[in-house]
Amino acid sequence: MRVSINEIMAMKANGERIAMLTAYDYTMATLVESAGIPLILVGDTLGMIMLGNDSTIPVTLNDIIHHTRAVVRGTKKALIVADMPFMTYQVSIEEAIRNAGRLMQETGCQAVKLEGGEWMADTIASIVRCGIPVMGHLGFTPQSVNIFGGPRVQGKTEESAAQIIRDAQALEEAGAFAIVLELVPQELAAYISERISIPTIGIGAGPDCDGEVQVLHDILGMYPDFTPRHTRRFAEVGTAIKTAIEGYIAAVHDSSFPTAKQSSHLDPKVLALLKAEDEG
Ligand code: KIV
Repeated sequence: MRVSINEIMAMKANGERIAMLTAYDYTMATLVESAGIPLILVGDTLGMIMLGNDSTIPVTLNDIIHHTRAVVRGTKKALIVADMPFMTYQVSIEEAIRNAGRLMQETGCQAVKLEGGEWMADTIASIVRCGIPVMGHLGFTPQSVNIFGGPRVQGKTEESAAQIIRDAQALEEAGAFAIVLELVPQELAAYISERISIPTIGIGAGPDCDGEVQVLHDILGMYPDFTPRHTRRFAEVGTAIKTAIEGYIAAVHDSSFPTAKQSSHLDPKVLALLKAEDEG
């Protein structure tokens, strides 16, 4: 059985912190789950990490479906959340429901995530009414990067902080089971986490959220283009991969790989017959 949204919500009630990571493919999802992560996000950051775009905007529903299927195949226990891409839920509630439904039916994920505050509350309530769990996303919402003018901390003024608090309350009332708080001041994240009963999952929001989400390739040191200030490299996997590949190239060049150990062998009698045929 997979982790349920009720178990995730109970973690907050029990004071148990929630560690969440992104994964975009079968192999990484297998590793992430085997390390003990209960909640995996197939984020639209795959647009940058997997596809080399400079934002999440070009990611399509089919991209998310393709990658979420692989993550679902690589896991048995984790709750898989699929991100709803730009313009798959903003145009109308009907489209949002249809696209959230496609994600659930075509991938086997257990929940969807979408960005936006009060103005998204009706959409979230409608999706939840259809039986689809929704994770919200507030603060810096990357699909609006062109409005924000870059990945900037949100909620620094009284007015904007009050709006994010209202947004969080609206999402809770709409039935969201958790909310990602991205790039908001630590004190605001702490205040919201106290005020609402559903878990807050921070990223660049300080240590006082109920949980934390990070982009897997950032914490592994695998994404060369950009290292956000809010991340920490827990390994230098990118360097390890490069070193391994350099070793492979050198071994091919100096003929130390492959060896007889990595080969299959012909029965000497068959070889002798072949040679005899050739000579005769
Ligand atoms: O798409 C993503 O990976 C995200 C996280 C950064 C929260 O939304």
